[in-house]
Amino acid sequence: MCGIIGITGREDAVQGILAGLKRLEYRGYDSAGLVTNDGRDLRVTKRAGKLENLTRALDSQPMTTSTGIGHTRWATHGAPNDRNSHPHLDPSGRVAVVHNGIIENYQALKAGLGDVRFASDTDTEVTAHLVARELDAQDAPDLLLAVRRVVAQLRGAYSICFVAVDDPTTIVVAKHEAPLIVAHADGVGYCASDVAALIDHTRDVAALLDGQIARISPEGVEVFDVDGNEAEPHRYTVDWDLDAAEKKGYEHFMLKEIHEQPQAVHDTLLDRHTSPSPGEPPRLHLDELRIDERELARIDKVFIVACGTSLHAGMVGKLAIEHWAGIPVDVEVASEFRYRDPIVDPHTLVIALSQSGETVDTIAAASHARDQRAPVISIVNVVGSTLAREADGVIYTHAGPEVAVASTKAFTTQIVGTLLLGLYLAQVRGRMYATETADILTRLQQIPDAITQALNLDQEIRELAQRYHDVDYTMFIGRHAGLPIAMEGALKLKEISYLHAEAFPAGEMKHGPIALIEPGTLVIALAPAGHVFAKMVSNIQEVKARGASILAIGTDGSTADLKEHADHVLTLPEPPHELAGPVLSVIPLQLFSYHVATLRGEDVDQPRNLAKTVTVE
Ligand code: F6R
Repeated sequence: MCGIIGITGREDAVQGILAGLKRLEYRGYDSAGLVTNDGRDLRVTKRAGKLENLTRALDSQPMTTSTGIGHTRWATHGAPNDRNSHPHLDPSGRVAVVHNGIIENYQALKAGLGDVRFASDTDTEVTAHLVARELDAQDAPDLLLAVRRVVAQLRGAYSICFVAVDDPTTIVVAKHEAPLIVAHADGVGYCASDVAALIDHTRDVAALLDGQIARISPEGVEVFDVDGNEAEPHRYTVDWDLDAAEKKGYEHFMLKEIHEQPQAVHDTLLDRHTSPSPGEPPRLHLDELRIDERELARIDKVFIVACGTSLHAGMVGKLAIEHWAGIPVDVEVASEFRYRDPIVDPHTLVIALSQSGETVDTIAAASHARDQRAPVISIVNVVGSTLAREADGVIYTHAGPEVAVASTKAFTTQIVGTLLLGLYLAQVRGRMYATETADILTRLQQIPDAITQALNLDQEIRELAQRYHDVDYTMFIGRHAGLPIAMEGALKLKEISYLHAEAFPAGEMKHGPIALIEPGTLVIALAPAGHVFAKMVSNIQEVKARGASILAIGTDGSTADLKEHADHVLTLPEPPHELAGPVLSVIPLQLFSYHVATLRGEDVDQPRNLAKTVTVE
């Protein structure tokens, strides 16, 4: 989704901004722009389309300036064209703004300005007008004060940055429900919507908290609350290096991230089971816990809230928590959760799953739960993100930065995170012997090697993709732990190849979806050995009888049988535990989607219409 980078205090600010925007490209966008401030003019250059269009436009009018802000826009209000791209100026051209999020009351704010012409259809532009008016009304123009007064009028979600021609080395930024990072290093001040844009310059950053406003200059960064009192942001050090954010020889980030899964899962499992003090038996622990374990022991119901791929990981988590901890679990699309009346009380645990930790729907669902005094545990990848900060407990999925829009390594590590949480809840509730927990954890350590074996199927999968990359419709079926993976397989295929794909519980086929099967329909069936295997075989036979082509994903123990019924069988190693099976069975589906999309010539890392971090509702 939209990206922001601001720099003040270095002569080549424009180059720095362009490099920062490049690092933010993965978030998804449809136009890009920047403004420079030399104390005489604010010069705005912006173009619809890819960053190259902006770079080309700047080549024809080179600029040197020490202060500027840049933006990649993912359109919400107004078409993705040059006019609606950020930055936006006030009519006198003295104030410029870039903004991520949505100003919900922009119509009312516009109406309040009277008969004023607007240069765009955006919700954002009005804020530049308002800040300019505030500055006009002041005897000694103070950008910080003007922004403070304006943001007090805004409703909605925003991370928003202003520059004013009267104050050429200052950037003022404000944050509410959309991430904003500030930093200062070597006499240069920075702001960005995502640490990826700052990693070239510094690892020591601070995430603003909701309601905070910061003044950034070459001298430093000052942070204030809405009333103008000094405030403390969340300071942290980024623990991954630049290498992790590069392609390292892979053609796409997605492929690189698929291949990073053995390491990512290994890192997520690392050091989870240690003795609280010397001589004591080891215990499973969370990364951060701000809640008494006795309170967690009293939990009688769990909700898992998440979106998209993270939701599918949550569906595996449900199976693990119910199986090990014996607590009923509901998995719910985060954007639905708070708009009904979920029965949530202090004995309900809400688990929020998110790669970014910044998905606005998931944040809103978690805060809705906290309003009902329910404890919240988040499973997140991005350290210091909103969901990590606001939860009572956190499990980090140490996947490293995930750049491709289509989530892969975040997904498998999220599943591992939910397995750990299931075991942890079993531990605090006394549902499992310590030896049993230790045994399962030891077995889970085998997952990285098993993923490596699954990745070895790549060539076989590429050949299958070659054969099927033109089919219009693919159906995925699964049962038990195979169902979330069927859903994830269908999501991966549609989001990067734009082919129609759907997933169904295999047992539901005869209640309707089987009507879709006609000769040649591709059905991908998740069929590992296990307690539902025989049922899966029956479902495969049903679709086969209607002429479907079957690609079955089996395991060592199931493929002999599958070969009798399926057109193609991919064989995975047996997982070290049935509930860890999804971590393996998703690998061929990730690779299949990747190859189908590349064979179709699609932009795998930045699929159309999609954004990496969804910071609007
Ligand atoms: C799909 C994908 C999305 C995200 C969803 C939630 O590949 O990446 O469906 O899973 O937007 O994002 P996070 O996990 O950041 O909350």
